[in-house]
Amino acid sequence: MENLQGKTAFITGAASGIGLGIAKACARHGMNVVITDARQDALDEAITYFKEKNYPAHTILLDVTDREAYVKAADEAEEVFGNVHVLVNNAGVAAGGGPIHEATFKDWDFIINVNCTGVVNGIAIIVPRILKHGEGGHVVSTSSTGGIFAVTGSGLYNATKYFVAGLMETLACDLEGTGVGASVFCPGPVASNLGMSSQAVRPEHLKNENTSPPRIPKGVRPQRATDWSKHFMTPEEVGERVVRGIKRNDLFIWTHPEFREGIKARNDALLRAIPDEPINEKRAQVLKNFGTLTYNPIYEKQTTPGPLEWKPEEE
Ligand SMILES: NC(=O)c1ccc[n+]([C@@H]2O[C@H](COP(=O)([O-])OP(=O)(O)OC[C@H]3O[C@@H](n4cnc5c(N)ncnc54)[C@H](O)[C@@H]3O)[C@@H](O)[C@H]2O)c1
Repeated sequence: MENLQGKTAFITGAASGIGLGIAKACARHGMNVVITDARQDALDEAITYFKEKNYPAHTILLDVTDREAYVKAADEAEEVFGNVHVLVNNAGVAAGGGPIHEATFKDWDFIINVNCTGVVNGIAIIVPRILKHGEGGHVVSTSSTGGIFAVTGSGLYNATKYFVAGLMETLACDLEGTGVGASVFCPGPVASNLGMSSQAVRPEHLKNENTSPPRIPKGVRPQRATDWSKHFMTPEEVGERVVRGIKRNDLFIWTHPEFREGIKARNDALLRAIPDEPINEKRAQVLKNFGTLTYNPIYEKQTTPGPLEWKPEEE
């Protein structure tokens, strides 16, 4: 989707962190932005930037797990700005840090509801509207580098982010030829408020009775998060990377070059896991009848973006 000028983006979890960075980048590229989030106080704070810059933006209080409210939010967005062109399923939470087998069902229910079902709701409610108006569009869903290879101690988070990656890779196939693109967005560490906001939005009935701090996994040096976060990427830079990905129609929007080794290790492991046996030619012929079952050309279209041309604005 090359020309974003005058188009409308609907972004979830957009009152803070990465979502807000994406909203700012969309506005800078001439889009109307619908900033939705489950926290009203964060929305009230977020909108001030857009008012100061005179950017067209509208806030809606929306919990992505609430389907009825989601439909109403989509209607409201259309009333305010007309057709929605870009959907960013960004709302996400963290829960159940530590070994997977020690997580509670409350941890599972909370994280799956937001990170998986919330994304499904966005796709089911907004994508048909984008297809219907026929003006083209794009869908981005926020996965993570942890949606591509395992991070010890973040099993629940990893599992939900793998879900998002698989969902979006297949959505990109489903949408081919429609003029609507789809991207899996895999940020590495970004300075944000994920720990705090995950606590704030967690419904009472899904809170654990005994909350002990998550155990620090092997190999991770205990240190104050603030010491690290100053080296994390900013939401503003990440937002620009997402906008570039939308314009390029990237299948994968990747932020951090530091993760190359991790991707390679996983992909190499998969290749090594293939039994060293000759192919059964008859079976191979039969499998070719199952569409993209053994090979999907969707992956061929991904090219390498160059360095990001962007400078932080004076704020
Ligand atoms: N920060 C990172 O390093 C990092 C890395 C990879 C992926 N991510 C992902 O990026 C996305 C944004 O997170 P962030 O790091 O910017 O954190 P953040 O807390 O700054 O932003 C997340 C926003 O989502 C909102 N939210 C949470 N649950 C919601 C719900 N049910 N409905 C609507 N809004 C809801 C929160 O209120 C918050 O404003 C998440 O999906 C997260 O998993 C973050």
